[in-house]
Amino acid sequence: MVIAIDGPAGAGKSTVARAVAEQLGFTYLDTGAMYRAVALAHAERGGEPAAVADQVQISVGERVLLDGRDVTAEIRTAEISKRASQVAADRGVRTALIAKQRAILQQGDWVAEGRDVGSVVAPDAAVKVFLTATEEERAKRRARDLGGADHASVMADLKRRDENDASADRTVLEPAPDATPVDTSGLTIDEVVGQIATLVTEAREIG
Ligand code: DC
Repeated sequence: MVIAIDGPAGAGKSTVARAVAEQLGFTYLDTGAMYRAVALAHAERGGEPAAVADQVQISVGERVLLDGRDVTAEIRTAEISKRASQVAADRGVRTALIAKQRAILQQGDWVAEGRDVGSVVAPDAAVKVFLTATEEERAKRRARDLGGADHASVMADLKRRDENDASADRTVLEPAPDATPVDTSGLTIDEVVGQIATLVTEAREIG
């Protein structure tokens, strides 16, 4: 079974997806980490981003491995965040990573987090959730994650990423038509996880 958790940066996807996976005993897949790993490989090697995406071996779990090298910390820098958003706009990169993600999700029970999991990667996912939060709330969380960074610059950075993520010919910030929207502003993690667990129970009853 696949549970797709999509939404924009700062909506709380990672925290929620990890918690849902833990509660249900499913494996967590961070598709954003794969775009980040390609961005890092491309920064180091140059060339066509799509060719890099085709060539690299990416393993995402507790640690993120790029051709066997642990890049868990390296892919979280501001520089790589910016580059990830850029390489994610490349159609060839998306094609390569979507194929890798589909192969991973083919067997087992997964909570997969990203932008286009419910709409493109796994349109047959049993449960699809699209997390949102107000811009203010998203910036507040991001600043906290970054260890108390300046609120205004975090907000500006978020807006830039949203624009970049929604640019080119991509519609990755659009939810799948059958996704359940959940606004996480003002909700605790437990409340959001509880809502998703209810959707999973309903999906199991139907399926
Ligand atoms: O969720 P994140 O910040 O780790 O994602 C990194 C970048 O990758 C971000 O700019 C959005 C992009 N991304 C994407 O286009 N599609 C996905 N399924 C996941 C992430």
